Amino acid sequence: MMRDSSRNAAIEAAIASCNVIGKTIVEIGTGAGLPAMLFARYGARRVFSCEMDERIADAAREIIRANDLQDRIEVIAKSSRQAILDGDLPSAPDIIFTETLDAGVVGEGYEAIAEDIRQIANPNTVVMPDRVQQFAYLCTDVQAFEKNSVFYQCGFDLSCFNVFAERSYFSVNQMQHDPVCLSPTLLFRSYDYLHPNALDPVEHHVIAHSSGLCHGMTSYFDAHFGNFLVTSRDRKSHWHAAFHPLREPMPVESGRRYLLRGDKTGLIDLVSL
Ligand SMILES: C[S@@+](CC[C@H](N)C(=O)[O-])C[C@H]1O[C@@H](n2cnc3c(N)ncnc32)[C@H](O)[C@@H]1O
Repeated sequence: MMRDSSRNAAIEAAIASCNVIGKTIVEIGTGAGLPAMLFARYGARRVFSCEMDERIADAAREIIRANDLQDRIEVIAKSSRQAILDGDLPSAPDIIFTETLDAGVVGEGYEAIAEDIRQIANPNTVVMPDRVQQFAYLCTDVQAFEKNSVFYQCGFDLSCFNVFAERSYFSVNQMQHDPVCLSPTLLFRSYDYLHPNALDPVEHHVIAHSSGLCHGMTSYFDAHFGNFLVTSRDRKSHWHAAFHPLREPMPVESGRRYLLRGDKTGLIDLVSL
């Protein structure tokens, strides 16, 4: 992730463009401290950055000290929830920043982080990213589907273990998969940390443009940091696409209409209309 130069450049450009001089910043998820140090570089008065993994928080503190920014950046080795409960984060900061996105957007704790952001934001607080759009299409992808299940190995039937198979989504390296697209790409969900309804169930009517066996849905996202985009759609990005398997593969016919439903975990189902 930290070597993803387009992601880093977009984050730096977004921070540089929003006049952070003298501002108070809260960051959720310090990582190595890169966004926190960028806020300091562009003039933030104080950055409160929480990191729930203590070893990562220690490493970030060391990096921040080595860059002589310890007077302006405080790393709090706690989850955002705990930091709020303990009163470690300022209420109503000017900016709340988080880059805690996984391939399918929600897997790194989106729901809890969004609740935490709503706890400390006031109407003037700018949230970065302000919106994350997830795009998706139905596909044939035997390889991805089979990656998520086990049958015979060494002559033994292991299929009972499939009760543990991931039902919502997992990441797939598009370089190693060749999904066949069966439908137009649609805007599957728009996420906004400030809107509790962003995780409500979604329903889409989808008309297949090709016939084939549908194994699930492939998705990718665009995260908008003001006018700058951090995206998983670029094959050079460190994020892979997300594959959302159907419970069972389902034949779809070109020109037919289907109802595609999704829940807040990224779990989907598909019904013929
Ligand atoms: C994808 S990394 C991003 C790091 C850094 N913000 C960056 O953009 O380079 C996300 C980090 O957030 C941390 N994290 C995730 N959820 C968190 C939470 N609710 N509170 C604090 N840290 C969290 C993870 O441990 C991980 O180190």
